[in-house]
Amino acid sequence: MKIDILTLFPHMFDGFLNESIMKRAIDNNKVSINVYDIRTYSKDKHKKVDDYGYGGGQGMVLMPQPIFDAVDDLKTEDSKVILLTPQGKTYNQSIAYDLTSEKHLIIICGHYEGFDERIRTLADIEISIGDYVLTGGELASMVITDSVVRLLDGVINKDSHIYDSFHNNLLDYPVYTKPANFRGMLVPDVLLSGHHENINTWRKQEQIKRTKERRPDLLEKR
Ligand code: ADE
Repeated sequence: MKIDILTLFPHMFDGFLNESIMKRAIDNNKVSINVYDIRTYSKDKHKKVDDYGYGGGQGMVLMPQPIFDAVDDLKTEDSKVILLTPQGKTYNQSIAYDLTSEKHLIIICGHYEGFDERIRTLADIEISIGDYVLTGGELASMVITDSVVRLLDGVINKDSHIYDSFHNNLLDYPVYTKPANFRGMLVPDVLLSGHHENINTWRKQEQIKRTKERRPDLLEKR
């Protein structure tokens, strides 16, 4: 998979792409991720990318020209263009799974004061990562990239996906490591028993119990 990210703040991605699982996935050619500075596509002699909104009221608004030119430059017939905005469809694990089947994602990071409405026509899908407003789409693009890349073949242990919270609309079961007694808090006996069938049954029960307590809305979706 190839992911192209269009942003006004490319350096925000330096740490994200150079640490941990994202770095390993890139180094192992599981994904190719390119960050493009929208400003480099500006045709303005001062490399301007935003201007006052017509009608007043708003602050600076991202202009269409640099973004249209960037998408024209990067788009192929295999591309899916994602526009990040609080007005988009709310992101979840099921959308993350759907995106893993794409060959090429172009992710446009919006701008906190808004973008020209015509930019929406470029998008195949508009996504919001939740009902709160960020200063721009950069963090949202990292959230989407991270959650999709970890699902790609060979990035993390395949079996671990099926234990993810939200897989089958269930939250994850509790896990423990050594010691078996920490400050009087004990690891449940069943996990020390070595009896795999009982362990699996206990885990499933815990998943359902947890989901009922914390996210009853997920159980309704099952
Ligand atoms: N840009 C600003 N807020 C956002 C959000 N919640 N999701 C996606 N992009 C955004």
